[in-house]
Amino acid sequence: MKYTVITGASSGIGYETALAFAARGKNLILVARRLEKLEELKAKIQGMDAKVHVIVQQSDLSVSSEAHTLYNNLKPYEIETWINNAGLGESSVIAEQNLDKVETMLRVNIESLTILSTLYVRDYADAEGTQLINVSSALGYAIAVGSVAYSASKYYVSAFTEGLAKELELKGAKLKAKILAPAITETEFVQKSIDAEGFDYKANMSKYHTAKEMAGFMVDLYEHEDVVVGIVDQNYEFHLRGAIYPVITELN
Ligand SMILES: NC(=O)c1ccc[n+]([C@@H]2O[C@H](COP(=O)([O-])OP(=O)(O)OC[C@H]3O[C@@H](n4cnc5c(N)ncnc54)[C@H](OP(=O)(O)O)[C@@H]3O)[C@@H](O)[C@H]2O)c1
Repeated sequence: MKYTVITGASSGIGYETALAFAARGKNLILVARRLEKLEELKAKIQGMDAKVHVIVQQSDLSVSSEAHTLYNNLKPYEIETWINNAGLGESSVIAEQNLDKVETMLRVNIESLTILSTLYVRDYADAEGTQLINVSSALGYAIAVGSVAYSASKYYVSAFTEGLAKELELKGAKLKAKILAPAITETEFVQKSIDAEGFDYKANMSKYHTAKEMAGFMVDLYEHEDVVVGIVDQNYEFHLRGAIYPVITELN
C-alpha cells in the first residue's frame, strides 16, 4: 500500500489537499500538532471513501528531533508523495518582530522541511513515481516588506527545492521535487500571523483563493510531469512552469 504524507493537514491548504488526494483514492498520512483536527479529518475522509487508508501522526515540527522521530515512525510505510506544507508566518517590520515566533517559524518553515526533505530524498530518489512537494509562497519569489523574515524563509524553501530538483535531474533520479507557491489563501494563516482571532478575508482582501482552490492547484502541480514550480501571479492566476532561480552546476 502506498501513501501520501501531508504535513500541516489540520487546517487550510493541507486539510483541503488531504480531501483532494483522498478523492483520487490516495492513502494518507496526516501530520500536525492538533490531533483532534486530524482525527476529525480522518473520519470525514473515511465517510467519503472507506477504502482510503488514513494514518494520523501528531508532531511538533518546531522541534527538530520531532521531525526525525516522525520520519523514523513512517519508515515502515511506502511513501509515494511527501508534501511539506506545515508553515507559519510573522507579520511585522524586522525591528518589531516577535523573535520567539520568528525562531519557531524558521524551525518549521526551514529546519524541519530540510530534515524531512533530505530523509525522504535519501530513501526514495530512485523510486518510480515519487514526488516531494514543498509549499513555498509567492513571497518566496518577491520580498514582502512587513513580512521580510517570512519571505526569506520561503526564499529558502524555493531555492532549496529548485536546487534539489536540479540535482535529481542531473542524477537521472526518478523522484521529482516541486514547489507550490500560493498567494493569499483563505486559511488560518493570517490570523495566526497577526495574532488576531477570526480574520475576515472578504472584508479585508481584494483578492484571494480559497483553500479548496489552492488544493486544486496542488493537484494540478502533482499531476503534471516536467514542471518544477506551480505559482500564483499578481492577477491571481496559477501557472505551472520550470525552475525560476538561476542555477550554477559547476563552481569553477
Ligand atoms: N494562506 C496563505 O495566504 C499562504 C500563502 C502562501 C503560502 N502559504 C503557505 O501554505 C502553507 C499552509 O498554510 P495555510 O495557509 O494552510 O495555514 P494554516 O491554516 O495556518 O495551516 C498551517 C498548518 O501548519 C501546521 N503547523 C503549524 N505549526 C506547526 C508545527 N509546529 N508543527 C506541525 N505542524 C504545524 C498547522 O497545524 P497545527 O497547528 O495543528 O500544528 C496547520 O495544519 C504554509 O507553509 C504557508 O506558509 C500560505
